[in-house]
Amino acid sequence: MHKTEHILEAKDYIMTKTNITPEVGFVLGSGLGILADEIENAVIIPYVDIPHFAKSSAIGHANELVIGDLMGKKVVAMKGRFHYYEGFSLDEVTFPIRVMKALGVKNLIITNACGAVNTDFKPGDLMLIRDHINLTGANPLIGHNNDDLGTRFPDMTQAYTPELRDLAKKVAEQLDMNLQEGVYAWWTGPTYETPAEIRMIRTLGADAVGMSTVPEVIVARHSQMNVLGISCLTNMASGILDQPLSHDEVIEVASKVKTNFIALLKGILNEIA
Ligand code: HPA
Repeated sequence: MHKTEHILEAKDYIMTKTNITPEVGFVLGSGLGILADEIENAVIIPYVDIPHFAKSSAIGHANELVIGDLMGKKVVAMKGRFHYYEGFSLDEVTFPIRVMKALGVKNLIITNACGAVNTDFKPGDLMLIRDHINLTGANPLIGHNNDDLGTRFPDMTQAYTPELRDLAKKVAEQLDMNLQEGVYAWWTGPTYETPAEIRMIRTLGADAVGMSTVPEVIVARHSQMNVLGISCLTNMASGILDQPLSHDEVIEVASKVKTNFIALLKGILNEIA
């Protein structure tokens, strides 16, 4: 579990670079970092410079914190995240979420690229995450609980804040944008799933599968933040189409949806309390 003094050291360092108090946080997934380029008066802080941040190596991620103004709101965006499959501990994966909370973030918008398990979906669709399934057995809260940060047994009944989900649906409708909705399953990776695993995951009730998001959402809820999850379905999951999966395809499709992705997130930001 994260130590309060480590969180405060990271926060204090960031506050030497900016006096903005961000209220909305973003975690931008593979190929989705472009939203951070829309931030005005941006202060860019490489993760390597921030005390207690891990150093990420994932392809398609920039690895910097971007703080500034977007749609008249004060925001902080993680351009690139830490993944469990990179060998980081879940403490390292989720540390930035604690820091965002300490900086003042109340609403956290978490995004990812993932595979479509629901055959009604298609590559390039955006999906509002209604709920998740943790298939890994791992949990960032295992171990000693720091009671200053949150409760020992957090409730996950409404892990994805209903009001934010309603807002996302309303904005998508206003934009005449097709927004899917479904359950996200967390698979550790770095292998993509087998076709048999995808059949299992579908049977278990998931609509999409990916290698991130769930640990960050758990820590955000432990930290009493509101959470909105938006997935970009970059490919049909393994075995659905008669073709192999590739990271290049994931990045390519994620960057193709950028116009819709940016419009949706800006629309949500505009209306968020
Ligand atoms: N599976 C897991 N993670 C992913 C996928 C997938 O099909 N696509 C993008 N991230």
